This record gives sequence, structure tokens and C-alpha cells, in this order.
Amino acid sequence: MAELTATTAVGDDDDRETGRPRFGTRNLPHDGDVFQHNAWDNVTWDEEQEKLVQQKVNENSIVTMSSEKLFKYEAEADKYWDKFYGIHNNRFFKDRHWLLIEFPELAPNTVKQNTERPMRAAFTDNDKNYGDKHIKILDLPCKDSCRILEIGCGVGNTVFPILMYNTDPKLFVYCCDFSMTAIDILKQNPAYDINRCKAFVLDVTQETWTTPFEPESLDIIVLIFVLSAIHPDKMQHVIQQMHRYLKSGGIILFRDYGRYDLAQLRFKKDKCIGKNFYVRGDGTRVYFFSQEDIRELFTGNGFIEEQNFVDRRLQVNRGKQLKMYRVWVQAKYRKPS
Ligand SMILES: C[S@@+](CC[C@H](N)C(=O)[O-])C[C@H]1O[C@@H](n2cnc3c(N)ncnc32)[C@H](O)[C@@H]1O
Repeated sequence: MAELTATTAVGDDDDRETGRPRFGTRNLPHDGDVFQHNAWDNVTWDEEQEKLVQQKVNENSIVTMSSEKLFKYEAEADKYWDKFYGIHNNRFFKDRHWLLIEFPELAPNTVKQNTERPMRAAFTDNDKNYGDKHIKILDLPCKDSCRILEIGCGVGNTVFPILMYNTDPKLFVYCCDFSMTAIDILKQNPAYDINRCKAFVLDVTQETWTTPFEPESLDIIVLIFVLSAIHPDKMQHVIQQMHRYLKSGGIILFRDYGRYDLAQLRFKKDKCIGKNFYVRGDGTRVYFFSQEDIRELFTGNGFIEEQNFVDRRLQVNRGKQLKMYRVWVQAKYRKPS
């Protein structure tokens, strides 16, 4: 059986460094040499940095695109992702093994449940005390079965690590994406086992969902870098549908791009298509969340907040003496019992 430890949780398209000895615990010492290592965790921003990023975002936040173009990006969103997977196949994102460290609920029997492990991310939310900044591992409603759904699964970079590390015979993983190309590629993976997993095409912004499971039947829904690809006007509907399909006590595991992430600052002026919402050169879109955005979306639609924090990382190009600030929002919500 595969064993997952902190040291195996490495590398990923959201630009984590690979092969660090301890995951998420390299803090920049006060007055330390920032160019001594490639990356630092739990970075706090001073006023100057905050001003700088706001200025950059103000500069690239004016929508200049025609309404026809904006409409096309929304109406043909699945086609742009089909094209993306047609070009990159399964080579773009790496398998997200690190997820099992961040979200031990995905393989509770396998991941070493050391609740005393220091939390890897910086908590910027002063309202809440999350048990002295330790990872919070949630109880699951799983009884006779344990059903997980991943929304926006792409080619399976999250699903396959779950199937690999979670050996619970009661486990069944559903996964959906609106890109038919992505689902076809996922199904061709030798690790795709129809006895433990079912992949299907679904556009979660649709009014009603056609699914291979009943409402109130899921224990966990996983949202990894997918809500950001959905038009902000439709996010609320997606959250309401998730509420409908989760069991009482079921949980949401969420990680996505945060406000003022390097990727947001890098967008050129003509790429803004809404507030904190941008279109990439290939027609795929991305929203950058604040903690509060996520809190409002979930608690405003009947979920209880279990965790919500901003994860900031400073990546360094030592050769060019460049500092790059990455920002992600990570959260866990529960449907009340
Ligand atoms: C950035 S990728 C993340 C893929 C995957 N979650 C991962 O972690 O590797 C975003 C995915 O969301 C999918 N997606 C975007 N909008 C969607 C929608 N309305 N319904 C279903 N899937 C959607 C895209 O096709 C794409 O595969």
C-alpha cells in the first residue's frame, strides 16, 4: 500500500517547490537573506507590498472587451477547456499527492493523522482560533459507504492520488468535468478502475444536474482550482447544488487562487473580464478569491465554516534576484447535520 508522508508531498502546477524536507515549514527569519532559498512559507506582507499589489491590480482591472467577446467566453467555456486538454493531454498538471497532506480526510486511514503537526499556512483571519494553527482534520459522515465527488476533475490529477492512497473498501470516487476531452483522457488512464471510480461529463453551472448518484448521498466534495474557472455570477448556484447533493454532515474541501496572487498581477490590461476575473490567452478564465468571497459564498448558502485561510508563499528566482508572491485560499465547510 502506498504510504504518504510529508516528504512525498511535492511539486505541482500551482508552483510548489519539489523535494523539500519538511512541507510548509520554512519560515523566513526576521532580517534573513531572502535569496538563500528558492521558497519561503507563511510570508507576511508589509504595507509597501500591499500597496504595490493593489496598484498593479488597479492598473489591469478595467474591462475593455466587447460584450460579444465576453458572451463567447462564457457560452463556449467548455470548448476552450477541450482545446486546452487537446493540446496538453495529461501533461500540464502534475498529480496532486500533496493534497492528501492538506486534506487528510481524503484518505483518513492512510495519512498519518498527527494533529500536532504545525499548520503549513499562515492564518490571516484574526476572528477565528483554529486550534493554535494546527491542521484541522474533520470527521466524516461515512458509514456503509464513503462517497467522494471531485468537481472539475480535469484528467484526474486529484482523483488518482485519492484512489492510490485511500484503500478503504467502502470508498467510491465520482468525478466530473464539462470538458469531454478531459474525461476521455482520464478514462484511458490505466489507474481508472470502474469498480472504485466513475467519471462523467457535467457542466456544474447547469440549472439541474444529471448525476450517477442521488441528492444527499455524498460525504465529501472536492473543489481544487475549479471554482475560479466559473463565472462569478454562477458560483452561488454551484454552491447550492453541492449543498443539495451532500449528506447532512458532509464536507467541502476547497483550494484555489487567492487575491493578488502573482498570476493576477501578471495579466495584461486587456485581459480583465470582470472584477478580479481574467481571461488567459487560450480562452480559459480565472477568478482570484479573497477569504471573504469564499466565506460569503459558503456560509451564505447554508454551510458551516470549519476552516478558511490564506496560504502565502514567497518564491525566489535566485539567479535574477526576483521575488514572486503566490497566494492561495484554502477552506473546509460542512453541511449542518
Ligand atoms: C484548473 S483546472 C483544475 C483541474 C483539476 N481540478 C486539478 O486539480 O488538476 C479547472 C477544471 O475545471 C473544469 N471546469 C471549468 N468550468 C466547469 C464547469 N462549469 N463544470 C465542470 N467543470 C468545469 C475545467 O474543464 C478544468 O478541467
